Amino acid sequence: MTTTLQLPRLIGHRGVKHLAPENTLASLSLAAKLGLSWVEIDVCECGTGELVVSHDDTLSRCSNGEGKLLDLSLAQLKQLDFGSWFDPKYQGQRIPTLVEALRYIDSLKLSLNLELKTYDCDPAYIAAQALHAVKVSGFSQQLIISSFCHETLHYLRQFDQKIAIGALFEIIPSGWQGIMEELRAVTLHCNADLIVEDREQDVLEHGYPILCYTVNDLADALKLWRLGVTSIFTDNPIIYN
Ligand code: G3P
Ligand code: MG
Repeated sequence: MTTTLQLPRLIGHRGVKHLAPENTLASLSLAAKLGLSWVEIDVCECGTGELVVSHDDTLSRCSNGEGKLLDLSLAQLKQLDFGSWFDPKYQGQRIPTLVEALRYIDSLKLSLNLELKTYDCDPAYIAAQALHAVKVSGFSQQLIISSFCHETLHYLRQFDQKIAIGALFEIIPSGWQGIMEELRAVTLHCNADLIVEDREQDVLEHGYPILCYTVNDLADALKLWRLGVTSIFTDNPIIYN
């Protein structure tokens, strides 16, 4: 499956993770202010079934809460502060639901890589909820949905024939082509530190864009772009200015 997506050289990782509290609206807003055209966010399921924007399935690293997101209702999660841990000036940042984040990202005219974190949840439910959120939000910018959980991506493809899927890996596996074809994925996402050049060239020769995470060093980025990598996810776009 080929893609008509306009992919950038830089994608803001979790918004701009090193410059504002990750996966918050403040982080997305700063990404736009810094001139990025694409951002990546992670979502997982909370106790009342909504998808919320968080990388972890636990609360202690990025909020003043504790325990698991799955053990709290959305109303309880909304009481927590997701900004102060990063810097007191971000006090009051609330966890966005996926629908809220999509509407906000759309208003900033940013394109999005939405990463679905399945953890121990039902892959079919996560896929269906993500598609539902995209629909009700009216999101109108470019969108790629990715996940390390390929079962979730299979459900996504089953439920939606057209959605742009990014197959997410740590290392590109030998059977990458079969996986891409089965999912009808349009992009391949992999860990920049684990890149195997021969395999990477094989992917590119088959016409798939490669998106690498997470690169926060200009020399590393230049090397990857030289190898033909299309986009890199970065926590700090300023170092590329
Ligand atoms: O989607 C790219 C990257 O975000 C994958 O790793 O753990 O930062 O979500 P992680
Ligand atoms: Mg991610």
